[in-house]
Amino acid sequence: MSSRRDFISSSALSIAAVALMPLAACSQDTTSASITGTAAKPAPKPFSGTLLKRAIPSSGEQIPVIGMGTSGSFEVGDDAASRDPLREVLKRFVAAGATVIDTAPTYGTAEPVLGALIAEAGVRDKLFLATKLSGVTGHNEGLKQFNQSLNDLKTDKVELLQVHNLGDTETQLALARELKQQGKTKYVGLTHYVESAQDELADLMQKLKPDFVQINYSPIARGAEKRIFPLAQDLGIAVMINRAFADGKLFAQVKGKPVPDWAKEVGADSWAQLFLKYAISPPAVTVVIPATSKPDNQTDNLKGGVGALLDDKQRATLVAALS
Ligand SMILES: NC(=O)c1ccc[n+]([C@@H]2O[C@H](COP(=O)([O-])OP(=O)(O)OC[C@H]3O[C@@H](n4cnc5c(N)ncnc54)[C@H](OP(=O)(O)O)[C@@H]3O)[C@@H](O)[C@H]2O)c1
Repeated sequence: MSSRRDFISSSALSIAAVALMPLAACSQDTTSASITGTAAKPAPKPFSGTLLKRAIPSSGEQIPVIGMGTSGSFEVGDDAASRDPLREVLKRFVAAGATVIDTAPTYGTAEPVLGALIAEAGVRDKLFLATKLSGVTGHNEGLKQFNQSLNDLKTDKVELLQVHNLGDTETQLALARELKQQGKTKYVGLTHYVESAQDELADLMQKLKPDFVQINYSPIARGAEKRIFPLAQDLGIAVMINRAFADGKLFAQVKGKPVPDWAKEVGADSWAQLFLKYAISPPAVTVVIPATSKPDNQTDNLKGGVGALLDDKQRATLVAALS
């Protein structure tokens, strides 16, 4: 986990003048409002509306722009105090029409926890499950790990199988393609989570042409705009965004600051919604996968996938506000 904290911010813009405009007196932070009983803030209004969708270029299949991650958030034990909020996180996700859930066999207990909750809710057929070949070397090790993932997720196939962090990339991607041929995954992909890996990832996109890439992108980590987004559009590769909140660091940066008044123009009433709208505004982006363990934060995040996205001026204003 410590390497995931290896955060690289993009260079700061010096647009001080357009930083934060005051403020809608609306709730900008729902982190503490949850069914766990720690709530100090009122619960958000329920999700309403229709999630935006984008097409996966290699197939034309449309998927909702808001998905969810499971790193950290689903790495829990089997006690009710941990599982009950996650049950509600999943319920709200499915009720809103969201589908894409990203996980990995190396996210602690995330796969068995997710698999159990999906089975209990009976919602497997409503989901687009993305897992990974992670930290393995060679065909046999990869296959063994994938079969364990299927077992833990209580399914006989996934929608997306990704090679995690460019480890043993060519062998693992070949395995993923073999599994695609067998109908065990619909799509194959490559992932990373730091900007320093994006040049290598871009080269591999050109060479290997996966269906998906998954990379980090946020107002303070904009490196993907350089090569990944243009290449994805040229080559017809779907883009999944991780760390849209920079692993939660963005919330620390705006702590105590009101949501800017212009957020209303795009129907947003929280920082989370602005960050997610930022992540999905580039046309190259297909889906973003924010992670949360809190039902009210899930509702908040889902709202980021409804209505208008950010224009260039709004995007620059948000970047400036965080610099
Ligand atoms: N190499 C890779 O392939 C790779 C690497 C990193 C991540 N990922 C994937 O991407 C997913 C997302 O990345 P991430 O987990 O690093 O971080 P993230 O989504 O950027 O941030 C998660 C953090 O944001 C908080 N949060 C979520 N919604 C919020 C809201 N509405 N208001 C306030 N706080 C909120 C969460 O806390 P609460 O639980 O308290 O809400 C958590 O601390 C991962 O779960 C994983 O599936 C993949």
